[in-house]
Amino acid sequence: MAVQPMHDGPRYRAGVMTASEYRRIGVRKVTPVIGAEISDVDLARPLDDATQAELERALAENLVVFLRDQRISGQQQLAFGRRFGMLQAHPLAPHEPGLDELMIVKADEGSARVNGEEWHTDMSAEPQPPLGSILYMKVCPPVGGDTLFASMYAAWETLSERMKQHLEGLTALHDGEFVYRGTYGHLGVKDREQYSQSNHPVARTHPVTGRKALYVNRRFTTRINGLPKDESDALLAYLFQHLENPLFQCRFAWQEGSIAFWDNRCTQHRAMWDYWPHQRYANRVTVLGEAPV
Ligand code: SIN
Repeated sequence: MAVQPMHDGPRYRAGVMTASEYRRIGVRKVTPVIGAEISDVDLARPLDDATQAELERALAENLVVFLRDQRISGQQQLAFGRRFGMLQAHPLAPHEPGLDELMIVKADEGSARVNGEEWHTDMSAEPQPPLGSILYMKVCPPVGGDTLFASMYAAWETLSERMKQHLEGLTALHDGEFVYRGTYGHLGVKDREQYSQSNHPVARTHPVTGRKALYVNRRFTTRINGLPKDESDALLAYLFQHLENPLFQCRFAWQEGSIAFWDNRCTQHRAMWDYWPHQRYANRVTVLGEAPV
């Protein structure tokens, strides 16, 4: 007798339950879909090419990698980022003094808002949005302040064939104006005259894995081009809800000295601000990517 489906929602089988062979680093998957904890890497020491190659493979296979117990300076975090490409300063957010590419991600009892409280991929309004971001946690709240990550491969792959056909070839507008204007005013950061706007494919192909990923997000994507506004609004609302399915996610509980390195081309993330009035203080380095195709 055929097995009856228990529900009619998206089901996702990641397929790969164990990490592939690594010689230099330890890789322990945190879910079958997304995320792996890496061991045997000390970023306070120079990174050799073989270890870097394994880290890149672990990132491609797991979409976000986590390292714990690191003790690094801002300069060392920047140097680590540069191993993966040119760095990309945030268009507006505050940075550590004299280090434009070392963004401050900080909240405390006086904060009016925190970074990344909505599902998003970083800086997608840029014509060349980041390949990845590297967040290093310096001060943690006693509990809370986790970050959620979601696989946009899973989000794409679980759409119906009909929906994929409808979305293939469409582009969407990602608008920085909508996100940035006034956002950092409380920290004394003056607004720019203009912020980036870019059109990107609704589904992009990852340049390393060749897999397709859904590439619209709640924070930046305002319009699917070529559709009437009401149709675009309804379709985006559906896609935003679809991509937030917990089946596609992992959740990282930070400790001081933890690092998360996520691939912005195939993931989204969301920071939990459940720790007020406590402090959370991290630095982010962002690595420049290619124009999405
Ligand atoms: C971000 O969106 O870069 C911030 C993520 C976090 O603070 O966990």
